[in-house]
Amino acid sequence: MARIPLARPSLGSEEVEAVSAVLDSGRLVSGPRVEAFEKAVREKVGAPHAVAFHSGTAALWATLRCLDVGPGDEVIVPALTFPATAEAVIFNGAVPVPADVDPDSFNLDHRDVALRMTGRTKAVIAVDQFGVPADYPSIESVLERHPDVTLVEDGACSLGSSLDSRPCGTFGEAAILSFHPRKIVTTGEGGMVLTDHDGLAGSLRSLRSHGQDASGAFSLPGLNLRMGEMEGALGQVQMGRLDDLIGRRRALAEVYERHLPGGVTLQKIAPTADVNWQTLAALLPAGTGVRARDAFLEAMRSRSIEVGIASFALPALPAYRDFSRDPAEYPGAMRVHESGIALPLFPDMRVEDVEEVAAAVREVLENGGDGS
Ligand SMILES: Cc1ncc(COP(=O)(O)O)c(C=O)c1O
Repeated sequence: MARIPLARPSLGSEEVEAVSAVLDSGRLVSGPRVEAFEKAVREKVGAPHAVAFHSGTAALWATLRCLDVGPGDEVIVPALTFPATAEAVIFNGAVPVPADVDPDSFNLDHRDVALRMTGRTKAVIAVDQFGVPADYPSIESVLERHPDVTLVEDGACSLGSSLDSRPCGTFGEAAILSFHPRKIVTTGEGGMVLTDHDGLAGSLRSLRSHGQDASGAFSLPGLNLRMGEMEGALGQVQMGRLDDLIGRRRALAEVYERHLPGGVTLQKIAPTADVNWQTLAALLPAGTGVRARDAFLEAMRSRSIEVGIASFALPALPAYRDFSRDPAEYPGAMRVHESGIALPLFPDMRVEDVEEVAAAVREVLENGGDGS
């Protein structure tokens, strides 16, 4: 294991006690903890409905399903995203259509979204990449010309971020969150849908629990996509710590900003955005190709510092060959795919560790990328 990991959840005695209390109670599913966690997220984000799922991917899949996305439909997704965004489209029988991203913000380029619209476009999924809000004002202005197209926010990483004082989790018809251990608040595996539509929330609750509606009738076929009580208890405690967890990340990101060498460009954040620093993502100097990036990552790992590539360009992944276009159509996504990096950042990281990582980045780059 690396001496300085890329990410590590902040879990303390409160979390341990909360999970133990669930075990003591004997009520492991469909109890008060998940409900209390949903309420905590709803109140924090300011969304009328919050419906917990056992993962962010399940939450996104269920959202598209309840919005009637299906065979014959196209859904525009960022060309640069974690594959879950596209998986949720494919496993509803629809076709994901990648649109390019801005290579500075790593977020959807609204001009490419406009170009990718067809008569079959049913929805656009905007991802708040690494907790940085997508450019919703521009995306919404494109969608004004396509009133039948639904906007969904993939806010897997953006709990606690906001744009123009509007919290992430409130953009579009519905937004999803993830509580994977690399996210701001963790439940192990876990996800949630936030929406202000009563009908959609009801359908989601039914779909996640075998299609049973509020009256108890099995009105539609469903699945078991529920979150368990241990996860709900963990999430409730973590929500109580949200501001502190984000505050610590912000303070560490400032140390990175002061110490990283000039050639490394951090993901760009709009001046009106407030971000949670879910990931410290950056671009290596222009002209860095895949081989030089890999040599950089290797040199960092040899110092026992865990680093990764920033994110994935779907058109470059074998799994998406059937749905993708030529990667050359996506210069923004390919630039980040090929020269984007993620550096360690987590709430319990020490300032000295951030300084050490930044110094290692400088040294490796000064030595031609491989630290030799
Ligand atoms: C942008 C994005 N969407 C969706 C997901 C899926 O979330 P989960 O891992 O909880 O299924 C992730 C997870 O990393 C993600 O980064």
